[in-house]
Amino acid sequence: MKIGIIKEVNSFENRVAITPEIAKKLSSLNHNILIESGAGKGAYITDKQYTESGASISQNKTEVLESDIILKVNAPTKDELNSIKDGATIITFFQIKDEIDHIDLYIKKKITLLSMSHVPRTTLAQNMDALSSQSNIAGYKATIIGADHISIYMPLLMTAAGTIKPAKVLIIGAGVAGLAAIANAKRMGAQVYAFDVRPVVKEQVESLGAKFIEVESDGDDGVGEGGYAKEVSDDYKKKQGELINKTIQDIDLVITTALIPEKPAPKLIDKSMVESMKPGSAIIDLAALNGGNCELTKTDEIIEHNHVIIDGRSNIPSTMPKHASQLYAKNLFNLFNHIYNENNELNMEEEITNGSTLINKGTVNNKLLQEFLDQRS
Ligand code: NAI
Repeated sequence: MKIGIIKEVNSFENRVAITPEIAKKLSSLNHNILIESGAGKGAYITDKQYTESGASISQNKTEVLESDIILKVNAPTKDELNSIKDGATIITFFQIKDEIDHIDLYIKKKITLLSMSHVPRTTLAQNMDALSSQSNIAGYKATIIGADHISIYMPLLMTAAGTIKPAKVLIIGAGVAGLAAIANAKRMGAQVYAFDVRPVVKEQVESLGAKFIEVESDGDDGVGEGGYAKEVSDDYKKKQGELINKTIQDIDLVITTALIPEKPAPKLIDKSMVESMKPGSAIIDLAALNGGNCELTKTDEIIEHNHVIIDGRSNIPSTMPKHASQLYAKNLFNLFNHIYNENNELNMEEEITNGSTLINKGTVNNKLLQEFLDQRS
């Protein structure tokens, strides 16, 4: 098959869908790889490195978009979609709520759309889970950005001029990004506290050396299906608010990552809580793209409120484009390799293929996407 990779055009995007290593693997499977010139520039990959891996380079984006399969990081723009040939397959990160206006075009052009954002989080699909590989980067990097924002040291220091106490870091949401943030904040020498609605993560949090703070609850309030979180009761929300309110006043850096799949981010920090924080402290709100865990967060802006910095940047993985592209490309290749049989056909009976395919040759193949379309009409 002819596989095309174009330069990503979204602002703040430095990642590219495949690396030379993956171009080589795809070429060895007898596919023709066509890459738009400069596609790897943001990730420090040259055209020459791609050609040495068996790929061809084109100066013409439209020519690349005429491939059988398009591999991308972000969903195509409307212009790109118009140039993609009818019946082609696109594999990319895809947020249904953000792309709903373009769905008719996918259907009309009989496109097959596989979403890296919808790969089921199962054991078998672990090496295809790009959301996790990118969240890991976001959690790690959030501590570094956070350390840069706060006005104090992270570790305990004994200096001739006196002893410096370690910074206090609170991580809200101990999933993939949260655990990565805990691990790195500990490495940086901070005193780390973490909170999550799922009591099951307590052991993981403690094994990383952080203190788990808990809301007293009789049952499994925040525990949803498949180990994911679900929305909590009003009583739990009230207790959680009181706990965060009490804790946050003494914290130097807060990193929020709370997420319930397919829902807007739960609002956990309100304006009065921000106003109770110490001057010179900071909040990194990783949930900014889903509306933010903090009431004051502005997506892709760094603001200051009452001497507290609130950072709402939404594409942190792109600030580490080399490793982010390397891991994304591997996830993508593992999915590609898993879903296609020797005749380059998809088996829609197979769990990972079915779960990742939002549209199959122009037919909607995802319940949530169908619900969005029904609501619109
Ligand atoms: P995840 O699903 O692995 O973790 C989310 C965690 O939040 C879960 O442990 C869940 O139990 C917890 N949670 C849910 N409701 C909560 C509540 N009310 N209070 C406390 N904890 C709660 O998700 P992952 O992959 O770690 O992603 C976290 C967030 O980071 C997402 O919003 C994702 O979109 C975002 N993200 C942001 C990036 C950026 O550049 N800003 C890059 C990558 C991810």
